[in-house]
Amino acid sequence: MKNNLVIVGTQWGDEGKGKITDFLAQRADVVVRYQGGNNAGHTINFDGKKFALQSIPSGIFTPHIVNVIANGVVFNPKAALAELEGLEERGVKDYQLYISNRAQVIMPYHMDLDGASESLKGDKKIGTTKKGIGPCYADKANRIGIRVGDLLDKEYFKERLQDALVVKNMELKMYGLPTYEFEPLYEEYLALGERFKKHICDTSVLLNKLIQEGKKVLYEGAQGVMLCLDHGTYPFVTSSSPTAASVPLNTGIAPKYIDNVLGIAKAYTTRVGEGPFPTELDGELANTIRERGHEYGTVTHRPRRVGWLDAVVLKNAVRVSGVDNFSLMLFDVLTGIKEIKICKAYELNGEIIDYIPAQLSDFKKCKPVYETVPGWDEDITNVKSFDELPENAKNYIRKIEEITGGQIAIFSVGPDRTQTIELKKIF
Ligand code: IMP
Repeated sequence: MKNNLVIVGTQWGDEGKGKITDFLAQRADVVVRYQGGNNAGHTINFDGKKFALQSIPSGIFTPHIVNVIANGVVFNPKAALAELEGLEERGVKDYQLYISNRAQVIMPYHMDLDGASESLKGDKKIGTTKKGIGPCYADKANRIGIRVGDLLDKEYFKERLQDALVVKNMELKMYGLPTYEFEPLYEEYLALGERFKKHICDTSVLLNKLIQEGKKVLYEGAQGVMLCLDHGTYPFVTSSSPTAASVPLNTGIAPKYIDNVLGIAKAYTTRVGEGPFPTELDGELANTIRERGHEYGTVTHRPRRVGWLDAVVLKNAVRVSGVDNFSLMLFDVLTGIKEIKICKAYELNGEIIDYIPAQLSDFKKCKPVYETVPGWDEDITNVKSFDELPENAKNYIRKIEEITGGQIAIFSVGPDRTQTIELKKIF
């Protein structure tokens, strides 16, 4: 059995990664968040309780699991503190959490600038979560970011923050926004550093040690491959890479350890934020799927755009992210739909293609080529095996496998841990 499993979203995020991470975490020793930040919303249901995690790894509920927030994450200490306090209030007190000293800190000005830049773009806005993700990663690349470890070094943090504020206050002024005084911000973030001190360490050293000891590690992706800064629908993407390829860099482990990738895919497609979406539906069917699937953003509560399953998108994840197996989520939501469509290719300028064109103007023109399969009416929320599925539901799974070339190892028929059916043990 392979010990290092990467969980990636194969669509535009919100595929149900939290649920599967939580399900597989029962067998893991370590759970690692490797990119993104509190723009993510990972919903987990068990024992009749519902949790929505944003920056905290999904292994937090299991006391023996080592939870790691790695260097590739942008970390908002204020939001994370509120999240942890919320968990503690609900009885999640016995946990292990380590935060990389190399992770970037999301500062309040990042959130201000995220909102301002979106407003300036008007109808060309990205539709970000306004959590400051893009501006924080931009500062990282621009080398004026604050790292988590800096918060523990009074003198160095002073210098870093003073230097950053020169630039940031200038940008804020440009947008006509209030600027930041050094002292209160410095004191507040020093105190936050102090609060998290016991959790902060070099997580690359920690992870490598755990891997050497033969521990089972789950790398929990946020967002999805279509939102990848490099391979997604740029510029309508997030500012990190939610692919398996980004795991080594974002965690400080060697690429050779990544040998098992599980792609999480909804049985249909959703997208929040702007950008092209070839299989998008509107009208009654879209509303039905949205309501049944509770398709509203965990973080922003925005209604999600809904569409048929796009297998070209899944094939893209197989190619770009090395997905070996899929977990098919929210399968039960499709029950009762007479005919179900799967997009198997696009038609672009009279040509049939099975990849995502790099140019957004081309992607916008792509017309889905559908395969239509019959639906089923039987309630599938209690099935415990593939054999118990109605024939048409079985066929839907087989059809997806046939078109994508991947294998469905898990399918999910409801929000609870127990409504998860494993066809193949991959971890
Ligand atoms: P940002 O990550 O807040 O900069 O937002 C950039 C794009 O990614 C927007 O379209 C967001 O809606 C989308 N996005 C960011 N995080 C998530 C997520 O966890 N699920 C789905 N979409 C997301």
